[in-house]
Amino acid sequence: MKGKSLVSILDYQVEEYLQIIQLASEFEALKHQNILHGKVVGSLFFEPSTRTRLSFESAVNHSGGRIIGFSDSNTSSSTKGESLKDTILTVANYCDLIVMRHPHDGAAKFASEISPVPIINAGDGANQHPTQTLLDMYSIYKTQGKLDNLTISLIGDLKYGRTVHSLLMAMMNFSPKFNLVSPKELCLPVEYKKILNAHSVPFNEDTDLHTILPETDILYMTRVQKERFSDPIEYEKNKNLYVLKSSMLENTKDNMKILHPLPRVNEISQCVDSSPKAYYFQQAKNGMFTRQAIISSILGLI
Ligand code: NCD
Repeated sequence: MKGKSLVSILDYQVEEYLQIIQLASEFEALKHQNILHGKVVGSLFFEPSTRTRLSFESAVNHSGGRIIGFSDSNTSSSTKGESLKDTILTVANYCDLIVMRHPHDGAAKFASEISPVPIINAGDGANQHPTQTLLDMYSIYKTQGKLDNLTISLIGDLKYGRTVHSLLMAMMNFSPKFNLVSPKELCLPVEYKKILNAHSVPFNEDTDLHTILPETDILYMTRVQKERFSDPIEYEKNKNLYVLKSSMLENTKDNMKILHPLPRVNEISQCVDSSPKAYYFQQAKNGMFTRQAIISSILGLI
């Protein structure tokens, strides 16, 4: 991991996933204090974010490093017409590592090819969100005590949801069964299905949330990604198709946990929040420890 960019979850192997999970648990136990002392992280967010940006900032602050950057690209020189290449080459002069989120698929890969410092992809369009996946895996491990042989049901926008794409590509290594629940228009893109098939990973595509609930260990709810729709009518048609309510949890397994990368819109009713099966806010907290682990590993400090 040292010195390497993290653009896609496929950049890491199984051993590296496990290493990050182990390190995240050490950070949670308050080991490795001040490990980022003297380091500067650049944070370039060309798209809105709450958890990802703030948990990166918190991760750096809690580990004694510094973080610089922008949370709104309208305040950066990209509004004056500066290219992504020029922004990256400039910011790389000021920091040891760049975290970036961008609306275009492939932007982080492009940045990693021209940047003299490692790039961490904090989400590129509808493509990938590898650090979210690592925190999702840490959350799965903490709640299930294992990563393997789980039934993982992913609900909602499987077409545009970058967290879904990264999570499937990582968890396919742990003998899962996947239930993929979406409207037909928002089903998983064919390139990901081809990869699952090539690895002989069983998956079941469904449009009904109720049927898959009783066998599910991890229920991964997602938001319909409004900003990726070219046709607002299509968004309106799909936005409220799946709404998880507490009454629907009755026949679910004791160990089942509900994850959501957040932000939530309507897909999980507020009444679910008080259920012991609701794990999404703890999941967001796990993001800070996981990002401490990722940054320290890439900077070769651990
Ligand atoms: C996700 C994202 O940005 O892809 N959010 C996050 O990083 N926690 C999911 C989403 O926006 O729906």
